[in-house]
Amino acid sequence: MTFTGCYNNTAEYFQNFLEEARKSRFDPEKIKSFEEIIISAANDAEDFIEMCWTCENASESSLNKNLRPAVERINIIKNEVMEIVSDFSTSSHDMDAHQALESVGDFLIDSTSSRSNWMLQHLEGDIVQGLDGDLEIIVRILKEPLSYLDIVTISGMGGIGKTTLARKAHDHLKIRYHFGIRVWVTISQVYGSRNWLLEALHCLSKKTNIEIEKDCEKKDDNELADLVQKTLKVRRYLVVVNDIWSTDVWDSIRAIFPNCNNRSRILLTTRETKVAIYANPDSRHEMNHLNLENSWKLLRDKVFGPEYDHPPELEEIGKQIAEKCLGLSLTISVIARHLSKVARALESWMDVSRTMGEIIANHPDKCLGVLGLSYHNLPNHLKPCFLSMGSFPEDYQVTWGLIQLWIAEGFIRRPESDKSLEEVAEDYLEDLISRNLIIVNKRRFSSEIKVCGIHDLVTSRAEALDMICTRYYC
Ligand SMILES: Nc1ncnc2c1ncn2[C@@H]1O[C@H](COP(=O)(O)OP(=O)(O)O)[C@@H](O)[C@H]1O
Ligand SMILES: [Mg+2]
Repeated sequence: MTFTGCYNNTAEYFQNFLEEARKSRFDPEKIKSFEEIIISAANDAEDFIEMCWTCENASESSLNKNLRPAVERINIIKNEVMEIVSDFSTSSHDMDAHQALESVGDFLIDSTSSRSNWMLQHLEGDIVQGLDGDLEIIVRILKEPLSYLDIVTISGMGGIGKTTLARKAHDHLKIRYHFGIRVWVTISQVYGSRNWLLEALHCLSKKTNIEIEKDCEKKDDNELADLVQKTLKVRRYLVVVNDIWSTDVWDSIRAIFPNCNNRSRILLTTRETKVAIYANPDSRHEMNHLNLENSWKLLRDKVFGPEYDHPPELEEIGKQIAEKCLGLSLTISVIARHLSKVARALESWMDVSRTMGEIIANHPDKCLGVLGLSYHNLPNHLKPCFLSMGSFPEDYQVTWGLIQLWIAEGFIRRPESDKSLEEVAEDYLEDLISRNLIIVNKRRFSSEIKVCGIHDLVTSRAEALDMICTRYYC
């Protein structure tokens, strides 16, 4: 789409907005103030267009080029208008007015999302592939009409894109509009409540981290928790708790979030299915790996940029490389970064394809972190079981042989109950699966595991496992 097209769309957006707002029971004074902002933005853009048009040699392409700053500006104003709509809605205590406004907001966001997203993505250079379906689901669940505080979870293995999806949902216009307060906290592995409470206060007060730390210097953790809780009580809120890895940690922070029966939500991301089920078995979103088409698109866009074509001779090998990333966005990002540094020639790309294992092993903080972090949290009795999987060939149908191997190696603890060793071994297997360290390839009709495997990041690369062992545990 050209910038002229974009400009027309934004103008159309403003027109629709004013028409819909006038039809609603929305305060006419407020509509007037919107009108003033919009008219001033439109006048500025008009001046720009006139200036370009009266230039000598004005052509469609030079107009497009010169119009870019005006379009960027008018889009910023559009976002500001959306923010104002959101602020009015969330500060309104009058339920009718609130609902009327909400329907106006939904209309506006729906009617322009495809166009404005293009513009925003274009401007931000934010390359995300294959998340639209997931995003739509999460946004819909978060906006469901349940009045009590509900918990929504996103789970899946490390590097699959949980945080990216949660971030997209948190920043989505519909969500910004729907929730008066949005908070983003990351629960670090070395768990200490102070950090995330300060992070929450930073989101809540819009003060800088330094200012918050200064303000809170003399407050203990309980006082900080009280402050967070009190502030969350004021409006409908969304709190994203990113990367929570244990049920104990969830238990310790859960009580801080008040239930005000105002459709507030908590969105959790976790690589541990068990944590997701524990937090809420009913509102779970399990992320899938990217399919080959989206993997290739992501790789291609990251290497060449979304606006540029790729050399056709690199397509086949590019797709082979993308396939070897097994739908993990993190791996695709690492490999794309590597490809950007090598020659754009068939031979160099074939070289990368052959040595992908090494490239990945050379980025332990990235790719091995994906597995290492999960492994790090394993209870000791599961660690040898997991590591033993590295010795199986990639396509080996491991289930039965694996369980026998664990028993023979003495990895299975003698059961306290009347369970057999095989049954305990099966429990271990289910546990590793729920931690997203083992992938089930097939289940029987009875839901019993038929074929399972370990992520290819581990199976095909002995060095990856070595790295995990030496880096984290020696
Ligand atoms: N759908 C996607 N399209 C593009 N990049 C993605 C996508 N999902 C994830 N990424 C990138 O992959 C990396 C890992 O994603 P992240 O969301 O942190 O994974 P997770 O939270 O599941 O461990 C990040 O660099 C992120 O930018
Ligand atoms: Mg994450």
